[in-house]
Amino acid sequence: MKAQNLKNAMFGLITSATVLFLVFTGCNSKTDPEDMKVKGLKDYYADNFLFGVALFPEQFDDSLSAALITTEFNSLTAENDMKWALLHPTLDNYNFERADRIVDFAVNNNMELIGHTLVWHSQLGKGVFTPEGAADESVLIDSATLMGRIKDHIFTVAGRYKGKVHGWDVVNEALNEDGTLRESNFLKIAGEGYIEKAFEFAYEADPNAELYYNDYNMMEPAKREGAIRIIKNLREKGIRIDAVGAQAHWELNYPPLEEIENSILAYAEAGVKVMFTEMDISVLPSPWRMPSADISVRFENNETMNPYPEGLPDSVNTALAQRYLDIFALFNKHSDKISRVTFWGLHDGVSWKNGFPIRGRMDYPMLFDRAMKPKQAYHEIIGLVKL
Ligand code: XIL
Repeated sequence: MKAQNLKNAMFGLITSATVLFLVFTGCNSKTDPEDMKVKGLKDYYADNFLFGVALFPEQFDDSLSAALITTEFNSLTAENDMKWALLHPTLDNYNFERADRIVDFAVNNNMELIGHTLVWHSQLGKGVFTPEGAADESVLIDSATLMGRIKDHIFTVAGRYKGKVHGWDVVNEALNEDGTLRESNFLKIAGEGYIEKAFEFAYEADPNAELYYNDYNMMEPAKREGAIRIIKNLREKGIRIDAVGAQAHWELNYPPLEEIENSILAYAEAGVKVMFTEMDISVLPSPWRMPSADISVRFENNETMNPYPEGLPDSVNTALAQRYLDIFALFNKHSDKISRVTFWGLHDGVSWKNGFPIRGRMDYPMLFDRAMKPKQAYHEIIGLVKL
């Protein structure tokens, strides 16, 4: 190529690049670099509440998952890795490797980390309620021994992550549907004081962390009353509790919007913030009259219960989007009372709803599909706040 031709070609290239740059920046030399970043849910909702996601560390190794997590969300919860059974599988054995990876990711990416969960009757370590070395699981330890074990667990775990965990789900699922306390071994052995003690230990272990009570079906009037009793009791005794976590394992028609609104108002009235902590909306038939998140219950799979094995019909996708739209319109109306909404899984392909309460189904409860593309529901949620 002759020198003149080369010069012309270079000029052409530079001109096209400049035009492209101006088109990209809207010809505005003062464009804020912040505006040029890809925006996600967390940015659109910056004035309303945090957007969280539950995850597992393998997702950090997948660049698409990792990018989606950091673009869309500003809060993280370990889906399983900070539960007692995983951190503390037997009485004298702790294993922090997987949880540490999640904590480091949150710290490095400046995301608010939620600790899930300290005291829960499910996914518990072995032998928590029995004398050391006992073969017979029906022989229970006394209250003081159990309190010592709970204290050891909370001090070790909340102590290790002190200053890194923003808030702890201190007690998870302590209530029955009628608002009374669940007959777990915690209650049987130690009486209802175990809840207070758990909150006190968590406060001593990390005085700056927020402390939450977390449960499912928290929009049901009777259970809501039970949760409010727990909050009031703690408050009366001067024990810190900052918020309730309402696991939002919901359905297309459950719970009714009216009960969601009544509950937001009732919890706010009780003096705590509301967090929707485990959001997913199943599009599949429910085997329960009233859905539950009791992970010990599972039902049989069959064609009626698994209607969309090959993909989600447009009509159902639209119904899901409408449901999310209605719910987020309500959340936005009360955003002063809501501090966080956390999705229980990054996309449809990793949602626990594919395996619960019936194994081997194809569910579509999240905002991102199995290819990690935003669904109609995602656009509706953003549309509510986009100017
Ligand atoms: C679920 C996880 O998503 C599953 O991977 C695991 O097999 C069982 O637990 N309530 C809770 C969550 O508080 O910790 C549960 O998470 C779902 C119900």
